[in-house]
Amino acid sequence: MPTPAILITGVSSGIGLVTALDLLRRDYHVYGSVRGTEVPEELSGHSNFTPLTFDVRDREAINVALDRIREDGRPLVGVINNAGVAIPGPVETLAEAEYRRQFEVNVFGLIAVCQLTLPLLHAARDQGYSPRIVNISSVSGSLTAPYMTFYSSSKFAVEALTDGLRRELLPFGIDVVSVAPGPTKTPIWRKGSELTDAFEGNRYSHLLPQLEPYTQAAERGGVDPQLVADAIHAALTDPKPSAYALIMNKRWLARAVSKMPKRWQDRFLTKRYR
Ligand SMILES: NC(=O)c1ccc[n+]([C@@H]2O[C@H](COP(=O)([O-])OP(=O)(O)OC[C@H]3O[C@@H](n4cnc5c(N)ncnc54)[C@H](OP(=O)(O)O)[C@@H]3O)[C@@H](O)[C@H]2O)c1
Repeated sequence: MPTPAILITGVSSGIGLVTALDLLRRDYHVYGSVRGTEVPEELSGHSNFTPLTFDVRDREAINVALDRIREDGRPLVGVINNAGVAIPGPVETLAEAEYRRQFEVNVFGLIAVCQLTLPLLHAARDQGYSPRIVNISSVSGSLTAPYMTFYSSSKFAVEALTDGLRRELLPFGIDVVSVAPGPTKTPIWRKGSELTDAFEGNRYSHLLPQLEPYTQAAERGGVDPQLVADAIHAALTDPKPSAYALIMNKRWLARAVSKMPKRWQDRFLTKRYR
């Protein structure tokens, strides 16, 4: 029997890297996507790891990279849509190229990976496996903080895509779930801030000094990415996994806020910026 395989996008750092290592320890064959030629050292030496090179915005490149999985012939039992960017900025000033990039990566990239891998997942189902798609969403897929509106919109879209695709694939025995982390100790916020100058030289400039402590607090107070990797493993293997797993400290608080009337949410989510 060939080793079952998992594809995970964005293994260069953060949740993707920790999850790839976790799945390798659990004896899966892991196909992990990177954008450049640099594969993290922890992964490159592993015999059960195969790097695939593509940007999720490049459908043709994804398709070419998937040839490797098709040729290897291992059953693809899971696809983890993890690649993502978080670009902060006011709706009024974030440049078109930046908000488009937010959606190109987090939403359209995820759609392309789902569409192109589904034939492999159907084939695994035909061989008796229970294939899964795990979309990495966010607490921002249910609550919208100011200045993270485009990121949040992209994650709301991921939630809708997850629910719709799960319902469409139900008759075919392929499950689709979301794992929604809250703040997690990864470089994502720092990377996102580097991508934008939307706070510079405008009426929102005074907020910049407040964002840095927020980034630091998210990194310091965030959960260990291993907790997210554990939730992803559960999503891949539980006989009936939760369709939505929120992984964060003070989960109760996020749930309570998301049930509040919108005007109360306004007060809660803007208090940092008053
Ligand atoms: N960290 C958090 O607090 C948090 C909270 C909620 C949800 N999430 C979600 O968790 C997922 C992973 O993020 P992370 O926190 O682990 O951040 P990260 O360390 O920055 O990882 C993001 C990964 O996505 C890759 N990526 C970015 N743009 C890409 C593109 N166009 N094509 C292919 N790959 C691309 C990155 O590759 P490069 O190195 O090449 O850029 C990197 O490997 C994201 O979907 C994020 O929205 C994170």
